[in-house]
Order: sequence, then structure tokens, then C-alpha cells
Amino acid sequence: MKKKIIVAITGASGSIYAKLLLQKLQQLNAQIADVAIVMSDNAKDVWKFELDSEDYSNHPYKTYSKKDFMAPFASGSAKFDTMVIVPCSMGALGRIANGISDDLITRTADVILKERRRLILVARDMPFNLIHIRNMQTVTEAGGIICPAIPSFYSKPKTIEDLAMTVVNRIIDLIGLENESYRWSE
Ligand SMILES: Cc1cc2nc3c(=O)[nH]c(=O)nc-3n(C[C@H](O)[C@H](O)[C@H](O)COP(=O)(O)O)c2cc1C
Repeated sequence: MKKKIIVAITGASGSIYAKLLLQKLQQLNAQIADVAIVMSDNAKDVWKFELDSEDYSNHPYKTYSKKDFMAPFASGSAKFDTMVIVPCSMGALGRIANGISDDLITRTADVILKERRRLILVARDMPFNLIHIRNMQTVTEAGGIICPAIPSFYSKPKTIEDLAMTVVNRIIDLIGLENESYRWSE
């Protein structure tokens, strides 16, 4: 089955992860039926600041306003199977953990969890406080996957992009897409 994926981008540090994920999804197009994008206002500000660019619309996918509750995936009846929030702010994590569905990002996460579909939160902050940790526990118990934006070094990445790709490749694996990437001991 080809995947229907929602990519939500929030205002944590790490816009590069979202940018590289969107590029990778385009490369894996043959396995994907649809990709929908939602960004928070802060996500746009952080993207501009960290990447010195406003190229967050530089992809072929439909972008929905975070206030657009008419978007198909705001309802469980639209069969999107996977949602990735990348990067995921502690604010978004907290709203999701507490069922506060006050915009399209948090409403969609709520829908994905209630429909027992796959929710991947690429949570990012440093360090975590107890509220963050408890919220991560709550989302995990509700069936979500906390995939923290913690890169790995054992593939010996040479550039910032290579390093960020160590996270993006794990997201791709969690979505369930076939992908050629570094595999330990292969
Ligand atoms: C440059 C920059 C980096 C930020 N990094 C983080 C971060 O890593 N984690 C986090 O939770 N919030 C971070 N923030 C703060 C969030 O943007 C802020 O809490 C915001 O309310 C999140 O809103 P959103 O969840 O609607 O995107 C950062 C803000 C800026 C300006």
C-alpha cells in the first residue's frame, strides 16, 4: 500500500530536518500516494532564521493553513496512515499529550492517535524538564512514537546535512518506506 503522510513542522530548532525529509520523500515518490504539509507560524520564523531562506514551500505538496479544519486529514475518515511532526516543539508535544486540539497540527495528531495510526514526534529541546518527559511518556502510552532529533555519529557524517540525515533516515524507517541508508554492521 502506498503511504499517505502528513508532515507537520513546528517551531523547534532543526528546520533542516524538515527540509531534508521533504527532499527525501520526493525521492521515494514511487512508494507514496500523498503528502500534506502544515506549518506553525513559529516554524516559518525558525526556518527563516536557521536556514537563511524562505524556501519552505519549495516542494510539490499541498500546504494547509494551521487553521484549516476543513483539511481532509482533520477527520479520521480520510485515510492518512502516518503523521510526522518534524521538528516537534515542546509546546506542540504538550498540547498533543493533553488533548488540546486547537489547530490543524494538534487536531491531526489527536485524530491519528484515536484511529491508532502512526504518529512520529521528532521532539527537540535540550535539556528536557519533567513536564517534557511526562508528556513524552503520555504520548508513548497513547501509541505515538517519540523519535527525538538526536543525530548519530557512527556512520561518520562529514557535513551538517549528513549528520541531519542520520535522523531523517530513521524517520523514513519509522514511516515504513524502503530506503537505502547506512545500516550498522552491513
Ligand atoms: C530559533 C528558535 C529555536 C527554538 N528552538 C526550540 C526548540 O528546540 N524546542 C522547543 O520546544 N522550542 C523551541 N523554540 C521555541 C518555540 O518556537 C516556541 O515555544 C513556540 O511557541 C512553538 O510554537 P509551535 O509549537 O506552534 O511551533 C525555538 C524558538 C526559536 C526562535
